[in-house]
Amino acid sequence: MFASPHRPRRLRRSPLMRDLVRENRLHLDEFIYPLFIDETLTNNPRPLGSMPGILRHSLQSLLAELEELEQLKVRNLLLFGIPKEKDALASGAYDDNGIVQQALRTIKEHYGNRFQLTTDVCNCEYTDHGHCGILKNEDVDNDPTLELLAKTAVSHARAGADIIAPSDMMDGRVGAIRDALDDAGFENLPIMAYSAKFASAFYGPFREAADSTPSFGDRRSYQMDPANGREALKEVQLDLAEGADIVMVKPALAYLDLVWQIKQSVDVPVAVYNVSGEYSMIKGAAANGWINERQAVLETLTSFKRAGADIIISYHTKDLARWMMEES
Ligand code: PBG
Repeated sequence: MFASPHRPRRLRRSPLMRDLVRENRLHLDEFIYPLFIDETLTNNPRPLGSMPGILRHSLQSLLAELEELEQLKVRNLLLFGIPKEKDALASGAYDDNGIVQQALRTIKEHYGNRFQLTTDVCNCEYTDHGHCGILKNEDVDNDPTLELLAKTAVSHARAGADIIAPSDMMDGRVGAIRDALDDAGFENLPIMAYSAKFASAFYGPFREAADSTPSFGDRRSYQMDPANGREALKEVQLDLAEGADIVMVKPALAYLDLVWQIKQSVDVPVAVYNVSGEYSMIKGAAANGWINERQAVLETLTSFKRAGADIIISYHTKDLARWMMEES
């Protein structure tokens, strides 16, 4: 009878042994939790039907959320705003009194630097047509859009942002934002670029959350084709050449091959965005009793680390923090 001298099972025999040889672990410091702040809300937060457990906050209800997050030791936040009014030029995005700017000031006022605040810089939540830039003949006009993005980034910086994260996928936006930040005296503020951002069906629930569904067409003339991997590496190289400090792959799950490849080819931190649709699929299946939520989430998040992610943006962060508290 054949007896293999190779017995990998030796290292799987007990919990302590498995802990000893585990290659990848999750640490809360590497996670960023997204928050939605809605200028039309005055008091109570509004639950999001398509993202169970996630709320749209008013500036007031945001404070209660922050208290909970601080207790859970979630310290990195990604801010999205839903403005009261939208227009063709996304004025609310770069208004120094816009909703994200107000949220930044509120958080810094109450918590100082106990939270590290990243802001998503994009126009789609602020345009009345829902596209990520200024339109010209139903097409997003690249270069004039760069000016709006740069103004938005500087306005966020002035209000207290710690990291600027452009998510629009215009050509040249990292360079334009870097220049504008430097000119305004923010040469020390890092840029986390949504470098390889794909035109994905997995953003569906987010668009309800942020009220940013395009009123016509789709985003395929600026976000990437899911079929393209080499092009993702090119986008990453361009963003680095323009001064990105951190690069990102988004969505995460269907693009782990690219996380791995990018990790091998760059020497800056690599972030992944575990997007709304990825979150809602697990939440939905778990609510139906079809999968074990905790196990499915931990397996998913660990796969990002295994693929090479240094930073994970995820709506599961709060649940993860609770589970970590329970265990400790
Ligand atoms: C804004 C933006 C989007 C997401 C992050 N920033 C939506 C989009 O591009 O349509 C998606 C996040 C998610 O689905 O969780 N451009």
